[in-house]
Amino acid sequence: MRIAILKDGQDGETRVAASPDTVKKFIKAGHTIALERGAGDAADMADSVFEAEGAETGTLTQVLKGTDAVFAVQCPPEATLKKMAPGTLLVSHMAPHGNLERAQQLADAGIDGLAMEFVPRITRAQSMDALSSQSNLAGYRAVIEASQLYGRAFPMMMTAAGTVAAAKAFVMGAGVAGLQAIATARRLGAIVSATDVRPAAKEQVASLGGKFIAVEDEEFKQAETAGGYAKQMSAEYQAKQAELVASHIAKQDVVVTTALIPGRDAPTLITQAMVETMKPGSVIVDIAAPAGGNCELTQAGKVVEHKGVKIAGFTNLPGRMAADASALYAKNLANLLPLLIDEAGNKAPHWDDEVIQGMALTRDGQVIHPTLVSENA
Ligand code: NAI
Repeated sequence: MRIAILKDGQDGETRVAASPDTVKKFIKAGHTIALERGAGDAADMADSVFEAEGAETGTLTQVLKGTDAVFAVQCPPEATLKKMAPGTLLVSHMAPHGNLERAQQLADAGIDGLAMEFVPRITRAQSMDALSSQSNLAGYRAVIEASQLYGRAFPMMMTAAGTVAAAKAFVMGAGVAGLQAIATARRLGAIVSATDVRPAAKEQVASLGGKFIAVEDEEFKQAETAGGYAKQMSAEYQAKQAELVASHIAKQDVVVTTALIPGRDAPTLITQAMVETMKPGSVIVDIAAPAGGNCELTQAGKVVEHKGVKIAGFTNLPGRMAADASALYAKNLANLLPLLIDEAGNKAPHWDDEVIQGMALTRDGQVIHPTLVSENA
């Protein structure tokens, strides 16, 4: 199979969908890799590194010529989609939730589009799950960014000149990103607490040395879908949660929010009034910023200050550590590859496989994903 790796870069994307390791593996298996020139530059992977592993490099037009599949981090712009031959397989993030317009663009261009966000949460697909690989890095980076914005130390320090108190860090949403944020804040020496609406999170938080804070009522006990995601909570639960959070948050120095509900705007967990109870110098890093944010005052892509509290709305935290994020994302794609080819190594997506069925937005010029088809009906 001929696989084109595109230069991402739209909206400041720094990651690339291949690494020298995955290119080496693909070439060894008999595939051709055509890398758009400069694709890895922002992730500290020069063209020469890919060429040394056997990749061809060229312009966008050159790499798309005769290609069977295209791997990218983000869905390419419409102009690029139109340059791809009908029947090309495109694997990338697609921001697919409710995004019928994007799916229609793919269908109109005759592209078979697979959305990395829709890799099903089953054990077999864990190694292909880009949401997990990238969230893990985002959780780590959020705490590192918080430590930069916070004008004090994280660990307790006893010095001859006096004692520096440990920072109190609160992580909201203890999923993949949240658990990594807890672990990172603990490693830096903070006193860590965390909350989530999924009961399974309680033990995980405790096992990382964090204190679990949550309204543990009947609704909480049922609050997890079969897919392992959080459910949208009732207004009554949210009110109880807000009350608990309000009293806790006033005592925190650093808050990292990660709460997401797939396909919906992120729930508001921190109101302006709550921010105003925090001490000047406190920091909120809102990982949910791209989905509207968990804090009312978050502005996507900006660090804002409200009454001395800094609120950071980074929109691409994995992109701030592009080398590692690219390497993991590339590995996710490499693990997906066997489901895209036949035994001879030719393009042959396993359309009946649960993983491909979950990811497939479009096929043969039609939008086929059930969530988008039903929205369209
Ligand atoms: P996510 O990124 O969709 O959400 C982040 C966290 O926010 C979740 O833990 C969620 O429960 C929490 N949250 C949502 N609404 C909230 C609210 N109102 N208040 C507080 N917290 C709220 O989820 P993520 O991190 O991608 O995954 C969640 C879980 O899915 C994981 O912890 C894991 O158990 C499971 N999972 C399973 C995989 C597999 O089997 N292949 C792969 C990855 C995750």
